[in-house]
Amino acid sequence: MTDARFARLLKERIGLDAESVGDAVIGRAVRQRSVKVAGGDAERYWERLQVSAEEVQALIEAVIVPETWFFRYPESFAALAQLAGRRVCELAGARPLRLLSLPCSSGEEPYSIVMALLDAGLAPSAFQVDALDVSRPVLERAEAGRYGRNSFRGANLGFRDRHFTGTDSDFQISEAVRAKVQFRLGNLLSPSLLAGEAPYDYVFCRNLLIYFDCATQERVVDVLRRLAREDGVLFIGPAEASLLSRQGLRPLGVAQSFAFPLDSQTQAPAARPALVPPPPRRTAPATKSSAAPVRPRAPKPSPPIPRLASASASLEDIARLANSGQAAEARQRCEALLAEQGPNAEAFYWLGLLSDAQGRGAQAQGYYRKALYLQPDHQESLLHLAALLAAQGDQEGARRLQERAARGVKRDA
Ligand SMILES: C[S@@+](CC[C@H](N)C(=O)[O-])C[C@H]1O[C@@H](n2cnc3c(N)ncnc32)[C@H](O)[C@@H]1O
Repeated sequence: MTDARFARLLKERIGLDAESVGDAVIGRAVRQRSVKVAGGDAERYWERLQVSAEEVQALIEAVIVPETWFFRYPESFAALAQLAGRRVCELAGARPLRLLSLPCSSGEEPYSIVMALLDAGLAPSAFQVDALDVSRPVLERAEAGRYGRNSFRGANLGFRDRHFTGTDSDFQISEAVRAKVQFRLGNLLSPSLLAGEAPYDYVFCRNLLIYFDCATQERVVDVLRRLAREDGVLFIGPAEASLLSRQGLRPLGVAQSFAFPLDSQTQAPAARPALVPPPPRRTAPATKSSAAPVRPRAPKPSPPIPRLASASASLEDIARLANSGQAAEARQRCEALLAEQGPNAEAFYWLGLLSDAQGRGAQAQGYYRKALYLQPDHQESLLHLAALLAAQGDQEGARRLQERAARGVKRDA
């Protein structure tokens, strides 16, 4: 069991919720750092943290999850290119578009934004991207613009030929793309974050909110709204979409784009929906990671993007698709259902099962936990999660869940 002081410190500084990453992750980081700088003595390490901002930063570096890749959720970038093309025409050169990627990790996300816009025919002078992250080492990697194979996932890698030079395992981003991104250190929780900056047309904040508890998520959404223009658009991660839906925002009608226009607020969330905080987990669900082919074209006004008429996702459909091996479709329906209807234990359970089937254990665990948060006696989630915990050696955790499942069965009998 991790000393709660360390978890509290991390939550205060970067919003990290111990529940979301699991005690073990924080415990490991604390042990690692305390061995390195305090002879493994937790008390001495705690004292060190009180007087050394540098050590606090080192602890942060030890717990962050910088997982990212180019054109992650490719539909977001296709949607962005379409929206941006239209807005550039409306602006008629009055000012460049402003885009923000926060957190940007090692740069794959902001560089994908630039590549998508250039490939869509926007002039380099028509936009500028700011990219922030709380971690210095990831920003250094981003600035260097050198990437290995792991940053390129999926089948459609045409962008790599257009914008990188390099060999089989080492690719250098072109100067034309690099020059369009300004990287800087920034903490989403800092009150002075981007103070004095003009608001952004498009704000990407993906796969960070999942590590926050409900109150911090709400606070961060307020920050994102402050950073964006009133007619701006927020791009978030799939597991975070239901949070914005619950705040009254409607998704752009482009499947898998996870984009929410801020002027789409239908009604003020007067009584903020009793946010049912699905306990966020360590890994965001990955969608098919093939990059959408982005063909170069001249920017021209695009037809309005239709809003999603209906997710028309029923749990029976989801079960049918999942059981017939149509995993991608089943996953898409789950996400649409969550975005439209808010948290739903069955939908999270199905997402867990789909992730489980693809061998994404950490992701599956997150979904099962969300299901259990909403419905603590959800039998299948209890048992599947127990099996995953047992497989990773947490016999005690597995046993507790199995007992919970057994108690539920007895109650039902
Ligand atoms: C999983 S990556 C997401 C990168 C990218 N947005 C994506 O979706 O691929 C999460 C990043 O969040 C950064 N991070 C964690 N807490 C942060 C905070 N409070 N402020 C800014 N960045 C933070 C981490 O350093 C890490 O690079």
